[in-house]
This record gives sequence, C-alpha cells and structure tokens, in this order.
Amino acid sequence: MDIVNEILRIKKEKKAIILAHNYQRPEVQDIADYVGDSIELSRKAMEEKDAEIIVFAAVDFMAESAAILNPDKKVLLPSLGARCPMAQMLTVEEIKRWRTLYPLVPLVLYVNTLAAAKAYCDICCTSANAVEVIESIEAETVLFGPDRNLAEYVQEKTGKTIIPIPERGFCPTHLLFHPEDVHVLRAQHPDALLMVHPECTAEMRRIADFVGSTSQMCKYASSSPAKSFIVATEEGLLHRLKKDNPDKHFYIAYEGAVCPNMKLNTLERIYISLKEEKHAVKVPDPIASKARKALERMFEIKNPVGT
Ligand code: 13P
Ligand code: SF4
Repeated sequence: MDIVNEILRIKKEKKAIILAHNYQRPEVQDIADYVGDSIELSRKAMEEKDAEIIVFAAVDFMAESAAILNPDKKVLLPSLGARCPMAQMLTVEEIKRWRTLYPLVPLVLYVNTLAAAKAYCDICCTSANAVEVIESIEAETVLFGPDRNLAEYVQEKTGKTIIPIPERGFCPTHLLFHPEDVHVLRAQHPDALLMVHPECTAEMRRIADFVGSTSQMCKYASSSPAKSFIVATEEGLLHRLKKDNPDKHFYIAYEGAVCPNMKLNTLERIYISLKEEKHAVKVPDPIASKARKALERMFEIKNPVGT
C-alpha cells in the first residue's frame, strides 16, 4: 500500500483537510493542505467551510482551539500523546490563585494552554501577536502565562509590567538554545542572520537579528536579501524554510532542538486517524464557549506585520 496515495484518497472521500504545524515531520508537511504557525492554522481551520473533517497534525492545544472555533466539524489529533508540556504547566488552580492575588489585573494567555485554562482568561495571544494583544489592553499591569520567556519579551517590547504565571513556565525545546553554539556557527557562517523564537531565553533574543513566530521567520527569510540564516526554533521549520527558499542556506542553532510531542504525528498515524476517525477532540461547554470568546477577542486585534 502506498500510504501517501491512501491518505490522499481517504481525505478526498471524507471531505477532510490536513493542517500541519511548521514543526511537523517533512513527509507530513508535504502531504498537508496547509502548513503554518499556530495563529495561521486556527484561521485556516475557520476558513475551510467545506471541510467536514480537520486532521490537525500538531499538538493538543492547537487541535483544541480548532475544535472550539469549529464546533460543527470533526477535529482529529492523530496522536493522543501529542501534548505540549508547556501547556500542562498552567493549571486552573494556579490561575485561580493568581486571580485572587490580583483581582483587577487582566489575564492574557498564550494559546499554548489547555481549553480549561483559556476559559479563565480575558484574551489569548500567539507568539505572532503577543505584543499587539498586550498593547491593545488599557491596563499597565497584566498577568501572562504560561511562557516566562514570552512574558519577558512582551514586557521589553511594551514597557508594561507583565506578571508571569506560573513563575517559571517554559518550553523544554526552546530552552536548549545557547548563545555559545551560535557564536561557533557565526564564526563558520559570518554572513548568516540569526532568527530566534520568543520562547527562547533573553540571552538568545539579545543576539538575534530577528525575533518572531515560526511563520514570521519564514516571511523574514524569504524577503531578506541575506543568503544564510541560523535558526533558533524547533528543527522541523528548516524543511519549510529550505523548500520555500531553495537558493538560501539554513543552519539549526542546536541540532538536538526537537519537540518529541510534535514528532509523534507520523504518516502511519495520520492514515489511521483519517481512516478510523480518531482521536476526535471535543471541548465541552461551558469551557468551549468561554475559551472561544478569548480566542475571538484575539482575532479582533489588528494583524501584526508579517502574519
Ligand atoms: P508558533 O505559533 O510560532 O508556530 O509557535 C508554536 C509553538 O508551539 C512554539 O513552540
Ligand atoms: Fe510546546 Fe515547545 Fe513543543 Fe511548542 S515546541 S509544542 S511550546 S513543547
């Protein structure tokens, strides 16, 4: 059996589409109808009016957001275990504790959170629009979770007081990047520009030529006259960067920068998921309707440059 042809056949038969995050395996990106960052995938899920099934090749919180925004569609997560560890770091109990400490302070949550957490926030953001979302809020002090590095980045950019909740939420993959490795790579490729995801540490962001979401990095690399780039985000993005820019060179800032959860979605699992329609992601009310409001508020904010 040719698994790629089988996936394409069943997809057509069932009126399904495959959305894949930029960190997916190359062969998964290549069969997807659309590859993008977290906000682009959410938007795409809403635009695909004719699709009856959305296979979401990514991690739990992204598929949950698609299910929340498309209650009449079946959203499938090919691997039940594809869960973002950062999203697990912010529990509802923790949110309630901080809300009691700061009852008048608005709460902004990164989309990398579970639906139950989103239901308690005022507005969501992604790495592509976090600065614009915080700027859209009148308050000068904001509770923000769960990524402490993104919270610090937003504080630097907006000048507002950002209280990170929990105190030390992080992405294990993005913490693997260190300036020492970049210094070696820069010595080998002196013309290369450094692109850094805001989930990286302040030390990494400080030496960056560009800080942005995964798709913003793609746009930066395509529009830049530079021919080579050092990339500080999950290694899956290099497939798309190289495909979109065959004349340019891309070097990962640390070779072990893999998100094992994202990589659980293999072609075999996508095939089984489509064929047997598993695992369907369902978010019950009232969590779904509360989380939907927080996501919709985010979509009302003007699109930041590059998204
Ligand atoms: P992007 O929205 O930049 O694609 O990031 C998602 C993510 O999980 C980063 O680790
Ligand atoms: Fe979560 Fe980090 Fe993986 Fe993104 S790369 S899904 S933030 S663990």
